[in-house]
Amino acid sequence: MEDISLHILDIAENSVAAGATVIAITLVADEDRDILTLKIDDNGRGIPAEILGQVMDPFYTTRTTRKTGFGLSLLSQSAREADGDILITSAEGKGTQISAYFRSSHVDRKPLGNLADTFSVLIAGNPDIDFIITCSLKGKECQLDTRLLRADLEEVPLNAPDVIAAIRKYLKKALTGLN
Ligand SMILES: Nc1ncnc2c1ncn2[C@@H]1O[C@H](COP(=O)(O)OP(=O)(O)OP(=O)(O)O)[C@@H](O)[C@H]1O
Ligand SMILES: [Mg+2]
Repeated sequence: MEDISLHILDIAENSVAAGATVIAITLVADEDRDILTLKIDDNGRGIPAEILGQVMDPFYTTRTTRKTGFGLSLLSQSAREADGDILITSAEGKGTQISAYFRSSHVDRKPLGNLADTFSVLIAGNPDIDFIITCSLKGKECQLDTRLLRADLEEVPLNAPDVIAAIRKYLKKALTGLN
């Protein structure tokens, strides 16, 4: 995986596949501790306890289209390359939390990538799912909660072209110039 935004897309897809209706994505850089933390929290079906130990194994997958599942093992690899790690907690029927930690300044830490486009694509592609996006990166902040937007939009769907364009514009402005 070339950058963190692509990991986000991939890990959020797991939440979508798990039937989540709310997905919270948090990306925070703690400059004093030199730690970049990515958390993806969902209210999907969860991972059964007896399987939790296997989900990082690339040869474990519940998908039926092919026999390997790489999302979590690749994220784990990226985190470990940057002196970090990932942590998975899950409760069956309640949801799953994936946390990935990276040493921000590590030479092998993947760049953030195009976060604005990634978040916009997730929202546009899953208009019935609510996303709570929080970023705090080098003095740049973004806060987007589609539950609040949805309330303001009333009948207009979240993936209406004007709405997505406005979301993307907001995110671009908030997150530009990061890496
Ligand atoms: N948020 C989640 N909720 C429920 N189950 C999950 C979640 N994330 C991962 N899993 C389980 O862990 C398995 C492995 O996930 P992983 O992302 O590594 O591979 P995959 O999704 O199967 O395939 P790929 O990511 O390569 O498309 C999934 O098949 C699924 O059973
Ligand atoms: Mg996956």
